[in-house]
Order: sequence, then C-alpha cells, then structure tokens
Amino acid sequence: MEARIVTLPGDGISPEVVAEAVKVLHRVSGVHGHTFEFEDALIGGAAIDATGEALPAETLKLCQESDGVLLGAVGDPRYDDPRLLVRPEQGLLALRKGLGVFANLRPVKLYQQLLHASTIKPEVIADVDLLVVRELTGGIYFGERGRERTEGVRAAYDTMFYTVPEIERVVRVAFDLARGRRKKVTSVDKANVLESSRLWRETAGRLAEDYPDVEFESMYVDIAAMRLVRYPSVFDVIVTGNMFGDILTDEASMIAGSMGMLPSGAIGAHKPGLFEPIHGSAPKYTGQNVVNPIATILSAAMLLRYSLELEDEAQAVEDAVGTVLAEGYRTRDIREEGTTLVGTREMGDLIVERIGRKMTNDQ
Ligand code: IPM
Ligand code: MG
Repeated sequence: MEARIVTLPGDGISPEVVAEAVKVLHRVSGVHGHTFEFEDALIGGAAIDATGEALPAETLKLCQESDGVLLGAVGDPRYDDPRLLVRPEQGLLALRKGLGVFANLRPVKLYQQLLHASTIKPEVIADVDLLVVRELTGGIYFGERGRERTEGVRAAYDTMFYTVPEIERVVRVAFDLARGRRKKVTSVDKANVLESSRLWRETAGRLAEDYPDVEFESMYVDIAAMRLVRYPSVFDVIVTGNMFGDILTDEASMIAGSMGMLPSGAIGAHKPGLFEPIHGSAPKYTGQNVVNPIATILSAAMLLRYSLELEDEAQAVEDAVGTVLAEGYRTRDIREEGTTLVGTREMGDLIVERIGRKMTNDQ
C-alpha cells in the first residue's frame, strides 16, 4: 500500500513523541512492504510563531489531502495568557472541525504489565477494556461564547449546543463499534440539569432501538466519573459529548497507569482520520528525552487500523508495546521497582526492534 501521512509535531514534548511514532511507522512499512510518505506541517504554538495562525490554511489542506494525520499535542505557556486572541488550542479545534472528525475513539486498555503502575487498586482495574467515544466537533467547545457586562460586573458565557444529527452520528459510531466488542453502550450526559443533555438522552435512546442486540443504558456524568474508578470493568463503550469526554478520558487514563499510555483516533464520514495521544504538550519536560512515547505510538497503530485498514500491522505495533513492557522497560511516568528506566528515544527504539522480529525468527 502507498499512503501519505501528515505529521504535526506541534509543541512542547510533542515533536519528541511524534518522532518515535514515525520511526515505528517506518519500521511497519519496511516489514510489511508498504510505502508511507511523510510530510511535516505546522500547528499550534509552533504555527503561531511562524505564521501568526494556529492552523495555517496550508496545514489544513495538506491534512485534508492525506490518508491519515498524526499529531502530538499543542499548547505552549507563552500563549497561556487568556487575553490573547490567537491560542495554540484553537489550531487543534479548527483541525478537528476542518477534517470533520466528529467521533473520537479513546480506548482504555490496561496492559497487564502495568497493573501495579496505576494508583487504582489492581483488583479494581484488572479486567478493564473500555472505549470512550467522545463527540469531537460540537458541544460547548464549539458553541457560541463571549464576554459581557451584566449588572455592572464582567461576565462570560459558553454555550452547549447539539443538533439531533450531530448526536445521532456519533452515537451510531458507538453502537457499531460495540457490535465488534462486548455489545454494551453507556451514553453519558447530565440530563437531570442540561437541556442539551435531555436531547442527547432522548436521541441516544431512540437510536438504541435500532440495535436490539446491544445492551444500552444512559448515565449521568457525575455517576460515570465515580464508577470509572470504582467499577471500571463494567463499561464497554461509553459515548458522550465533547467536554464530558475530555474530562472522563483524562480520568480513565489513570486506569492505564499514565496519560502517556492513552492513544486516540478521531474519525469522520470521510478519510483521513486524526490520531493523537490524549495527553498535552508537557512543556516542562521539553527536550529532556523523558516522556513516554507509547500513547503516540499507539495512536499511530490506530491510524494503521482506522485510516489505512491495516489491522495486522496495527496489532503488530500493539504487540510490540506489550512485549517491551513485559521485558520490564519503563519510561519515568510508569516506572516501578525492579523495572528498567529508559528515555523517550530508547523506548521508541525498543518498540521498533520488536516489530517484525517474530516473523524473522519464524523464517
Ligand atoms: C484533548 C485535549 C484538547 C481537548 C485540548 C488541548 C484543546 O485536552 O485532546 O483531550 O480539550 O480536546
Ligand atoms: Mg483533554
């Protein structure tokens, strides 16, 4: 297969982890006989520095014309001032919108080797295998917002807004994916308070009737937050709005031991998808070769699976990650006694070396 992959190195530690994921994709193409072409483009703070815009038109166009987009993270403390009009995060939101990737798949799977790396008790998380489907191009992150003066004081507002088609298409993705898993969907909302959540619940419930083979429940987001750390293994597919999904997946990453372990892939009605770790740009660790590249490497595996439909290759990457963990190598975020501490580049190299190795041995 020939594929064009756009890489967006982004800000902070992001270029370091993207570089490791690219090494992995190179290895996959070599071992499996594919031709991947890579092209770098600017986004976030790096793009603001160079062009004044968080998502230059050229970047969006390159991404739209590619077969898959691999992003690290955006965000730079130099642009944290809330009074700034152009912010790195706007680039990410505009890219998601521009690619139409409305369904963000965030799988939370525990590598058994990390059972004790989590701060949550092993017996609680041992059997966790869940998938959060986060709505990604609507809701309060895209609704109308502004500043105003109300009764003489400064005020601000954001709007949570969903249309029925926006809810339907993402909930459908959740049901379709549940059919290939344990056939259970939990729709998360705050329907006891929010009108947009009442519409969400009504719509999800109606769609559930099309999937009689899939078990369905609706749950309030506060209860879901509690159950995620108390009974996480009862969840299969969770589908929820943009902000709830953002918050719940950071929480859920603690099941997997670290934010550095959690990949994500955003898909829409058309190619390409957008693949990125759920973690941020961790500016304070920039250039130190200490952060965990696994979330980005696993995001590259999702790119292979969902954008290029190369399931075996995706699996090979995930297996290589499992092997390296089983051999006891750990980056700082998942370090435990008795394991071998490695840096970002070393972790990438170890994973690369284990892709295709089995095949060679069998020959
Ligand atoms: C994420 C991140 C982003 C989001 C930020 C950086 C805008 O937190 O991908 O979860 O909120 O979507
Ligand atoms: Mg987030």
